[in-house]
Amino acid sequence: MNHITLASGHEMPVLGLGTWKLLGEPCRQAVKKALELGYSHIDTAWIYKNQEEVGQGMKDSGVDRKKIFLTTKIWVQHFKYKQVLAEFEEDLKMLNTDHVDLLLLHWPLTGMKETFKALNKLVDDGKVKSIGVSNYEIRHLKKAIPLTKAPICMNQVEYHPYLNQEALRKFCIDNNIHMTAYCPIGRGQIFGNPTIKSIAESHKKSEAQVMLRWLIQKDVVAIPKATTEDHLKENLEIFDFSLAEEEMKKIDNLGIRRRIIDPFVCDFDDVKPLTRVINKIKTLGYVNFYR
Ligand SMILES: NC(=O)c1ccc[n+]([C@@H]2O[C@H](COP(=O)([O-])OP(=O)(O)OC[C@H]3O[C@@H](n4cnc5c(N)ncnc54)[C@H](OP(=O)(O)O)[C@@H]3O)[C@@H](O)[C@H]2O)c1
Repeated sequence: MNHITLASGHEMPVLGLGTWKLLGEPCRQAVKKALELGYSHIDTAWIYKNQEEVGQGMKDSGVDRKKIFLTTKIWVQHFKYKQVLAEFEEDLKMLNTDHVDLLLLHWPLTGMKETFKALNKLVDDGKVKSIGVSNYEIRHLKKAIPLTKAPICMNQVEYHPYLNQEALRKFCIDNNIHMTAYCPIGRGQIFGNPTIKSIAESHKKSEAQVMLRWLIQKDVVAIPKATTEDHLKENLEIFDFSLAEEEMKKIDNLGIRRRIIDPFVCDFDDVKPLTRVINKIKTLGYVNFYR
């Protein structure tokens, strides 16, 4: 497994297992199976309501906790100083662990000074190794960077061939912030794209593998969610081939910008007014949306 080195000095595997929508026994099984197959990085969040199963899957895999990179995220309702600390203690208990490798703020909100103060305390206390954010655009990062002593190491955002994040990536590189791609295979909505299909065929790989390879060749961490053993294995088999510069450029330049996730907690710069209204209606059932 390839690794990147975060601004905190800690290493992070470039491929992880996403767990949104994984609940109960299927979640425990997927985490256990992934770790047995050779994954070493699991992504969860307080709001996913699956942290106990994630913790159980990690334990049942028999893999040493020190060899697992674990990410979780603080939910937006808990961004006040004391609430961050309280939610995090709950996280640790549910995950059955004494530390988290990466703690992210799930969505950008204003008034982040006290939120970052709490994250810094968790780093100073040794309970969190690295901190970061999620769904931040350049304007959010510009505001957040001066608020924290511990570096913002990661920005986890939606990133796939139909949502190329080149401008954000350049800003992140300039500020020593790495990126993680969520929905890295576009939740299946990109399958059938003729460019990706033909590149996949020429490498005798699947379209999902080409999309994941495109990301990691940009030093972007990918966290595909997979439940079945076939998908888990397939997504791991991306380190035995590489895309030529020409192929990378073809995917870079697909020219389609389609966001899958746009709940009303965030205003993304690139969302067209009509799409925004449709997305907001789709996510009106706020809590249900996250279940
Ligand atoms: N920070 C945030 O706000 C945020 C938002 C959304 C997601 N995330 C994180 O990012 C992770 C990944 O995103 P996502 O789950 O939304 O989308 P995704 O990983 O792009 O897509 C997941 C879907 O693709 C299927 N799949 C997986 N591997 C496949 C393969 N090789 N071939 C064909 N289909 C395949 C899965 O099926 P099976 O499950 O049936 O295997 C599942 O239906 C989440 O689980 C979560 O951890 C973070």
